[in-house]
Amino acid sequence: MDLEKLLTDRLAPAFATVAGGPVDPVVRRSQRADFQSDAALALARRLGRPPRAIAGEVLERAELADLCSATEVSGPGFLNLTVADDALAGLVSALAADPRLGVPEAAAPETVVVDYSAPNVAKEMHVGHLPSTVIGDAAARLLEWLGHRVLRANHLGDWGTPFGMLIEHLADLGEAEAAQELSMGDLDSFYKAARVKFDADEAFRERARQRVVALQGGDATTLRLWRLLVEQSERYFLTVYDLLDVTLTERDFHGESSYNDLLGPVVEELDRLGLLRSSDGAACVFPPGSVGRDGEPLPLIVRKSDGGYGYPATDLAAIRHRTGTLGATRLLYVVGLPQRRHFEMVYAAAAQAGWLAPPARAEHVGFGSILGPDGRMLRSRAGESVKLVGLLEEAVARATALARERNPELDEGEAAEVGRAVGIGAIKYAGLSSDRHKDYVLDWERMLSLDGNTAPYLQYAYSRIRSIFRRAGVAARPEAGISLADPAERALAFELVGFGAVVGAVAENLEFHHLTGYLSRLAAAFSAFYERCPVLRADEPVRESRLVLCDLTARVLRQGLHLLGIRTPERL
Ligand code: ARG
Repeated sequence: MDLEKLLTDRLAPAFATVAGGPVDPVVRRSQRADFQSDAALALARRLGRPPRAIAGEVLERAELADLCSATEVSGPGFLNLTVADDALAGLVSALAADPRLGVPEAAAPETVVVDYSAPNVAKEMHVGHLPSTVIGDAAARLLEWLGHRVLRANHLGDWGTPFGMLIEHLADLGEAEAAQELSMGDLDSFYKAARVKFDADEAFRERARQRVVALQGGDATTLRLWRLLVEQSERYFLTVYDLLDVTLTERDFHGESSYNDLLGPVVEELDRLGLLRSSDGAACVFPPGSVGRDGEPLPLIVRKSDGGYGYPATDLAAIRHRTGTLGATRLLYVVGLPQRRHFEMVYAAAAQAGWLAPPARAEHVGFGSILGPDGRMLRSRAGESVKLVGLLEEAVARATALARERNPELDEGEAAEVGRAVGIGAIKYAGLSSDRHKDYVLDWERMLSLDGNTAPYLQYAYSRIRSIFRRAGVAARPEAGISLADPAERALAFELVGFGAVVGAVAENLEFHHLTGYLSRLAAAFSAFYERCPVLRADEPVRESRLVLCDLTARVLRQGLHLLGIRTPERL
């Protein structure tokens, strides 16, 4: 149980009595004491009483004796609370004995679909796919750890008109040759070669158009060639996920094509429900609340004038499938912010159709772009989007070189392993630690730095603690008495007992920068503690108590980083 919640539970009844109705005491960490509540100030006007008098009365009524060593009314009417050392020590001991580190399993587990990564078949994965893949995977890991049933959905772009040109190009190359090229992960040149022919050659364009018709008509040869494209691409994506320590597997590919059979029925049902209107020959839904700049309602095109279905219809079918067939109540879409309007409209239309009714809900977990050091969209020297594997390989190479430099004792294998953990961790952490609603700048120096809010900093803190235990040759005893005489021990204890609240909040808002911020505060509190407080050289019983603090810090860092998909090597 975290302290904010404990204190809130004690203050709330007292406030309610004084105010004659429910009041949120808004307890938060404070510079002046450990915690403070400013709720009396907000109440003063409503009750027509001085805030100091209200705060004083709340203090008289609240049962705080077992939790607080000091309480006071200060300034215009703040309530300052100092937590008693033995209460804090008790919470630390409870944490030490808790394999879940103060993070309870969800009281009401749900089925959650996490729609993420979703690259396009026969197209290279570029840096733009990084945030979706990394944030989505962290969401899946976190919600799973809380006991939810998580279904990962990799909504691959595996259907649509580009496949005419891609299949035609494949047929030109010959299957064996094409398979060879694709299996080497050279999706980029394959796609570009197809594109060049398509742009230059009218006869090729015509063949490509006929291929689309054949594909949609279920022509056996065409489908076989299409499947080859999909399978080779999937195999390649899996190698990228593997390098990135992302938990997506081949079972999680649910490409757009998997909804093909549902598209007709979905549009028919919309029609039956009276939700369809025709606009320029296309069948459209006009979801309430979606209007353009000119104030005109915006259409969501579910069937194009040529009879084809597109991206919106597929997403509607996917929602119906996810809530209706899979029984999901929480749908997460980890997709870039430019698609925000699309999802708003799709959710509104699905709600109108009854496919997205409470308790089921959908959330767009949007994110900004990755920028280069010049503050513009990250591009390669040739001005193209940056290949994701290229970026990951560079991260590993840089981190491996740094690892060798810092620790010449590492052998080849160890250096490679550390380089991988640190390089990949740094890339993932950089994305997770920035407010996802904003763009962020990819900065190698900062990302790989051992100082500051970075993965290497946390991994370093972790390995440092592990080395304490290697030297000690003992494990911490969770049942050891906890003493918090030094302010640095107290500060560390406060951070440790705050893990549960942070994880709980992030499970709701999926703003992982709150978790990274927490972990870096924890590591900083640990550093300050370790500088001031000798551990192995301390006398008993303080030594045992400090070993518990060390061990808990390592466990929380490890679990926190694990939820983010970042490894914690024992030595750096
Ligand atoms: N493949 C799409 C793209 O590259 C992203 C798909 C996101 N998921 C979804 N259900 N629409 O833009």
